[in-house]
Amino acid sequence: MKAVPLVTAFLLTLATTAWAQENNVAPTINSNFKSAELDVESWATRFTGESREVFHARHDVVKALQLKPGEAIADIGAGTGLYTRLFAGAVGPTGHVYATDIAPPFLAYIAANAKKDGLKNVTTIQGGDRDTNLKEASVDVAFSSDVYHHFEYPLTMNASIRRALKPNGRLYVLEMEKSGSQTAHVRAPKPDVIAEIEKSGFKLVEQVPVPGLKDNYLLQFRKSS
Ligand SMILES: C[S@@+](CC[C@H](N)C(=O)[O-])C[C@H]1O[C@@H](n2cnc3c(N)ncnc32)[C@H](O)[C@@H]1O
Repeated sequence: MKAVPLVTAFLLTLATTAWAQENNVAPTINSNFKSAELDVESWATRFTGESREVFHARHDVVKALQLKPGEAIADIGAGTGLYTRLFAGAVGPTGHVYATDIAPPFLAYIAANAKKDGLKNVTTIQGGDRDTNLKEASVDVAFSSDVYHHFEYPLTMNASIRRALKPNGRLYVLEMEKSGSQTAHVRAPKPDVIAEIEKSGFKLVEQVPVPGLKDNYLLQFRKSS
């Protein structure tokens, strides 16, 4: 009976080794964020525009995650911290938010705002394009908003997120539909996103219904055993 988890662990180890060779699937997607000219204030304005669905629906998204006081959550690809600050309130002073990003100026902006707002439960972490740099089994929840199609090495990132999650941890992916004006920008349609994440050692729990989401969707995953 114990053979199944062992076999799964072995296959995941093999897969992780193979993914070390993963090709960059979107080499230019983060050019803006890697630029030395990154204008943080202008991105902050853009990320918090009322016409942006993931901003407009932010309170319903947070509600849908059913965060509990005391939980640790990673906001992966936090940008200018739209969700980070909401999570800080939701998990409370006994919980913690780890805001990761590949862009140091975004992290500096988040840290400065957290200090200004007296949020002591926010830590910023410099992520790499293949690694969250979160500690192993350190978070109850991993979340990303509008980031999955920005992963240049999605399978490698998924494996890194899996390592960072506690055994019963939940992964939420808030992602754009590959349709309409975003057809060219978004790499993979929803079924492919689900397939990639499941291939990385997760099982889809559900597409979480969120009022106000039309061009974006929220998926919940758990680690598969
Ligand atoms: C479109 S922005 C979304 C920002 C924020 N999550 C929001 O919804 O406002 C995408 C973010 O993903 C970050 N990013 C891209 N690849 C990443 C990776 N491998 N790890 C962490 N962050 C990444 C970018 O630097 C950028 O801040």
